[in-house]
Amino acid sequence: GAAVEVDISALKVGEKITVEWRGKPVWILKRSPEQIAELPKLDGQLADPLSKRHPDEFTPKYAQNEHRSIKPDVLVVVGICTHLGCSPTDRFQAGPQPSLPNDWEGGFLCPCHGSTFDLAGRVFKNKPAPDNLPVPPHMYLSDTKLLIG
Ligand code: FES
Repeated sequence: GAAVEVDISALKVGEKITVEWRGKPVWILKRSPEQIAELPKLDGQLADPLSKRHPDEFTPKYAQNEHRSIKPDVLVVVGICTHLGCSPTDRFQAGPQPSLPNDWEGGFLCPCHGSTFDLAGRVFKNKPAPDNLPVPPHMYLSDTKLLIG
């Protein structure tokens, strides 16, 4: 499949855009400093906090870090649940919510069987989805230009 070039110069903090790559939705989310700071605190509640499972298939080397991204603020993941392939929805508001982890800075909720993911696409424990949301192969052509694929 063809690689997709994306200009993220207009992407604001807290904003998410979706681009299509090989027929799949790829999410690009710009996280705030508070959201980035929250990530390490969630590790104990996650199934695979360091993305050690299937590292080459789900998380390329350059994203095997706490924020699962090249730039700490910009998350790039495939928006397809690793359970049975539904598309999770955005839940960016913080605070307690029914059936969601307490005190989180938000993330993604799969409407099909309730898997939840943090703002690095990492799946919470004891949910049907076994793996974190995949990080697609990508690189930066410039500070604000991404090449996916
Ligand atoms: Fe997402 Fe089952 S498809 S939890």
